[in-house]
Amino acid sequence: MQLNVEFCGVKFRNPLVLASGVLGVTGASLKFVVENGAGGVTTKSIWREGHTGHPNPVIIANDHFMLNAVGLPDAGIEKAHIEIGEYMKGKPAPLIANIVEARIADFAEVAEKVSALHPDIIEVNISCPNVEDEFGKPFACSTHDAAAVTRAVRAKTKLPIVIKLSPNVLNIAEIARAVVDAGADGICAINTVGPGLLIDLETREPILANKVGGVSGPAIKPLSLKAVYDIHKALPKVPIIGTGGVITGEDALEMIMVGATLVGVGTAVYYRGVDCFQKINDEMMEWGKKRGIKNLDELRGVAHAGAYSKKFQNYS
Ligand SMILES: Cc1cc2nc3c(=O)[nH]c(=O)nc-3n(C[C@H](O)[C@H](O)[C@H](O)COP(=O)(O)O)c2cc1C
Repeated sequence: MQLNVEFCGVKFRNPLVLASGVLGVTGASLKFVVENGAGGVTTKSIWREGHTGHPNPVIIANDHFMLNAVGLPDAGIEKAHIEIGEYMKGKPAPLIANIVEARIADFAEVAEKVSALHPDIIEVNISCPNVEDEFGKPFACSTHDAAAVTRAVRAKTKLPIVIKLSPNVLNIAEIARAVVDAGADGICAINTVGPGLLIDLETREPILANKVGGVSGPAIKPLSLKAVYDIHKALPKVPIIGTGGVITGEDALEMIMVGATLVGVGTAVYYRGVDCFQKINDEMMEWGKKRGIKNLDELRGVAHAGAYSKKFQNYS
């Protein structure tokens, strides 16, 4: 089974992309992830200026999920310039530069500066609280704010723009439609779920210093699949990076069947090591080979009612 895909006009040798925030800080670590089988990589969220994360402990994980309150630490655009420059020397696979800010005008500025570094795609993390909103609601939780960020970024770059959505909304397809109408080329779904909280029985206090954190890993797979399913149903022509709880080749195939073109892999690095990319690719290929599947186009979106029977009328 061929694994290569095209996403927003960019060719990927396989659909697995490193999700933002995991190993995506230096040019060398991004290259290391490609050496281990990723078809593309996403940088950690880049701020215009540096941003301080939360105090330790910031991560706790078990067999089912990870809870993280890393808090989007970043050294800012100047450091991104160095690290992306390093990655670009003999660039081994497409680069998605993820940006984040807390004000719409700052999104525009960071988008312009990151564009000048020539990544293949800009991914916009809109899960951060909007400091100009009366209640600090995340941009991702309002069609109005999500569209405003998209328009601001669209005005500053000709690169493909992917908006990364939060699952913490009533209707994710509605947010997806608003950002596509505002100029987004693709969607990444989903960011972490929650926030959630865990208690240390001995100290009788929350385990994370920040108390709450975003939930990722195996437990969120049903939520990410549902989000991608809903977005693909509403916007079947819009390419999606399906992210959330993908640990195995079977998980990645489920993500493609609900409509994803690329598959984001983050927390799996913790569970299976950095070579999880190669392992997931091998597992996908083995599954496809057994069933005579030639390429991923045959599988994309088939989970939607009727799509399987239409595509495989003669398949037995
Ligand atoms: C430790 C950690 C740090 C993360 N940092 C970022 C980040 O900087 N920007 C971002 O857009 N998403 C960030 N995420 C979210 C992931 O990119 C991804 O959307 C989420 O974890 C779900 O995918 P997964 O279950 O494969 O990890 C982070 C996730 C984790 C676990």
